[in-house]
Amino acid sequence: MTLIAEIRQSRTISLPQLQTLLETSNTTLLEELRLTARQQADEIYGHAIYVRGLIEFSNICRNNCYYCGIRAGNSKAVRYRLDKEQIMQCTHTGHRLGFRTFVLQGGEDPHYTDEVLCNIVSSIKHAYPDSAVTLSVGERSRESYQRLREAGTDRYLLRHETATESHYRMLHPDSMSLSHRKECLFALRELGYQVGSGFMVGSPFQTIEHLYADLLFLQELQPAMIGIGPFLHHHDTPFADQPDGSSERCLRLIALLRLLFPTALIPATTALGTADPMGREKGILHGANVLMPNLSPSAVRKQYSLYDNKICTGDEAAECHACLSRRINRIGYRLVIDRGDNKA
Ligand code: 5AD
Ligand code: FES
Repeated sequence: MTLIAEIRQSRTISLPQLQTLLETSNTTLLEELRLTARQQADEIYGHAIYVRGLIEFSNICRNNCYYCGIRAGNSKAVRYRLDKEQIMQCTHTGHRLGFRTFVLQGGEDPHYTDEVLCNIVSSIKHAYPDSAVTLSVGERSRESYQRLREAGTDRYLLRHETATESHYRMLHPDSMSLSHRKECLFALRELGYQVGSGFMVGSPFQTIEHLYADLLFLQELQPAMIGIGPFLHHHDTPFADQPDGSSERCLRLIALLRLLFPTALIPATTALGTADPMGREKGILHGANVLMPNLSPSAVRKQYSLYDNKICTGDEAAECHACLSRRINRIGYRLVIDRGDNKA
């Protein structure tokens, strides 16, 4: 059996095998990785690509992650918050365009108490009962997660960022901890959320051992969704001078995730599309099956700046959706009008 067939069949990988896949320049092996991953995705999801309407509703954040452009310490960031009416307007546009999942993402902004967020979530679920609501608002208490779940939230995105304690310390200030991040993820899973986790590829100081630990952690968590994208520097952060992550390495890891987690919902992320103009298409061709176009009002898109040069900041939601749809058709896939639940 080939290395790729072995990984696919066992759904496991060893550290030396990971090292081989990430370091090889054997194009035959790499093409086998890509094709096997895409075949795996085709078997479960066909040529359908799920879309999530991303609403970046606040760039105010109490945290100070060293990599992130909206960190509290970035005094140059121009801050904004969307109110409930603005968010509802985004979902209205999105639903008309065919979105059946709305992802509300924001910094850890104290303005959005449980009460405020529950009200927004239940209004969206009431207006669009055929749609799923995903929250991506960071670390909160178990009670808070429970209230948000009861208000109708279906899914929650919270990347673990890195599963190695010492590496986590290099990316975050002491006020944050990997153990708390993990506690949140397991609480979310217990509360019945479809959980998404993930990590950045090529974050500062990352080694292959760190990536291996990330894969092992994901195997323990078994998330419904796995999001990865290359680290991209932001000029007003402590990591301004750090080298960007490799989009090529990210693609290899997407393919590998598809083999290890056959039914996972794996997005071709905006960061990947920023690092490589064809990154999102390549992501799909390496086994990704989700895209997350931006539904935020164009006026605030540039302000939700996690890293430099983010794509799609100048386009209206409808333009972006049409553009993406064309681009995906061109590679033989299609955006579908569907909640896009995990087919586990
Ligand atoms: N480059 C790439 N990805 C980033 N994220 C945050 N900052 C950056 C950056 N500079 C990712 C994190 C976070 C997600 C919302 O965006 O992984 O979980
Ligand atoms: Fe946004 Fe093309 S996908 S402009």
